[in-house]
Amino acid sequence: MNLTLKIWRQKDAKSKGKMVDYQISGIEGDMSFLEMLDVLNEDLIAKGEEPVVFDHDCREGICGSCSLQINGEPHGPDRLITTCQLHMRMFNDGDTIYIEPFRAKAFPVIKDLMVDRSAFDRIQHAGGYISVNTSGNTIDANAIPVNKENADDAFAAATCIGCGACVAACKNASAMLFTSAKVSQFALLPQGQVEASERVLAMVNQMDEEGFGNCTNTGACEIECPKGISLENIARMNREYLSASLKG
Ligand code: SF4
Ligand code: FES
Repeated sequence: MNLTLKIWRQKDAKSKGKMVDYQISGIEGDMSFLEMLDVLNEDLIAKGEEPVVFDHDCREGICGSCSLQINGEPHGPDRLITTCQLHMRMFNDGDTIYIEPFRAKAFPVIKDLMVDRSAFDRIQHAGGYISVNTSGNTIDANAIPVNKENADDAFAAATCIGCGACVAACKNASAMLFTSAKVSQFALLPQGQVEASERVLAMVNQMDEEGFGNCTNTGACEIECPKGISLENIARMNREYLSASLKG
């Protein structure tokens, strides 16, 4: 395949960025999107030009770092996959592909296509944990019965990889889907009950402090989420938040 790439280039957080055109050839359908960018970067390095900076680590849909806006969609045109799992067979010979970083005030651009998603880490630090007595009296987790439906829903919520596609897809740059997944994975389990009220209040407050927008129930986040995190988690978080607020 021969392709035209229009890629966002930005020197650093303070510089103004712009779209730059690149021509690329010899791309196979079986290549991943990141492998295609590797080919481009090898070409650029061979020509003495600066390679395009983009984030990646596991390249198998686990780490959530490969956050790219491709033709206006987070993680590109396929569903339930991350950018590293997107194959070039989704595109046609002669296509023009627009590649941009995830856009949100709370995700400032570091360089080119790489953004700072540490706001998500700070939301997690605010309450995404449980306190367990490990002084020798620890109770085996399996000794506490858990309703199968709750266990399945908690597991599904825990599959959120913190990629930020939900924020990039949302017209308000809301982080409700991410935060609600992180709240739900504890709210559904007995082990999460002790700190439930403090957790939801702290995580939602941190989410607001980071500058994410409000949820207006558009649902774009659920559609673009590579892990299929359900909007039901947002409803659950709202119930948890209301109940914690009423307790004072
Ligand atoms: S909810 Fe989905 S889209 Fe949002 S951070 Fe988690 S995995 Fe990514
Ligand atoms: S590089 Fe880890 S999810 Fe894509």
